[in-house]
Amino acid sequence: MNHENQRFYLYPVWIRIWHMVNALLCLILIITGLSIQFSNPGTMVKFSAAVSVHNIAGIILSISYALFFLGNLFTPNGAYYVIPVKGFITRLKKQFIYYTIGIFKKEDAPFPVNEESKFNPLQQVTYVVLMYGFVPVIVLTGWGLLYPEITVNSFVGFSGLDLTDLLHIFAGFTISIIMCVHVYFCTIGKSPVSNFISMINGYHESH
Ligand code: HEM
Repeated sequence: MNHENQRFYLYPVWIRIWHMVNALLCLILIITGLSIQFSNPGTMVKFSAAVSVHNIAGIILSISYALFFLGNLFTPNGAYYVIPVKGFITRLKKQFIYYTIGIFKKEDAPFPVNEESKFNPLQQVTYVVLMYGFVPVIVLTGWGLLYPEITVNSFVGFSGLDLTDLLHIFAGFTISIIMCVHVYFCTIGKSPVSNFISMINGYHESH
């Protein structure tokens, strides 16, 4: 089916506000996180300022994540995050072949965007792993580092705090990489900026 020049209202106001706050906080957390990690001999932000800003942004991110979680639980947006198991690998392959071959031959997308299907299979799995895997891990480990007294002392012979720190850094690194890939893939729209405009006005433009 060709959805030429069709517009679909896919991003409700709450998703747009959540996403803007979330993206901004993630950028702040990445800059301050890197400044803490590479504080010697000193990087972008002064160590003490980086720690304070990172902690505050992390607390706001926790609240914003809780609101996203509740929003997806109680509004129809959550349905886009439910992955149908049957034929999942076949659908993933189809999308992968489209991104690596079909798109360069100007073929039609195998999963055109509409109200029933907002995300293609690769987007869907990425968003689910990100929002229900890495983001909760980074939030929970962040609280564990902020309040070390609530973190387990040791786990299979390793320091609980060291493991929490490792998990936090691993999640942060992975989210940063996914974010770069995410922003790049967002440029593959009707025009290079149309997906970014969608996140401002709520309408997806199909091509
Ligand atoms: C500067 C940073 C970012 C930009 C410019 C950006 C841009 C966009 C755009 C244009 C869309 C709509 C197109 C689409 O559905 O693929 C989108 C959707 C989405 N983005 Fe981002 N993004 C950024 C950062 C992030 C981060 C850090 C996360 C998560 C940690 C994230 C998670 C999501 C999710 C879950 C959706 C789908 C929301 C829904 O409709 O339910 N984004 N992003």
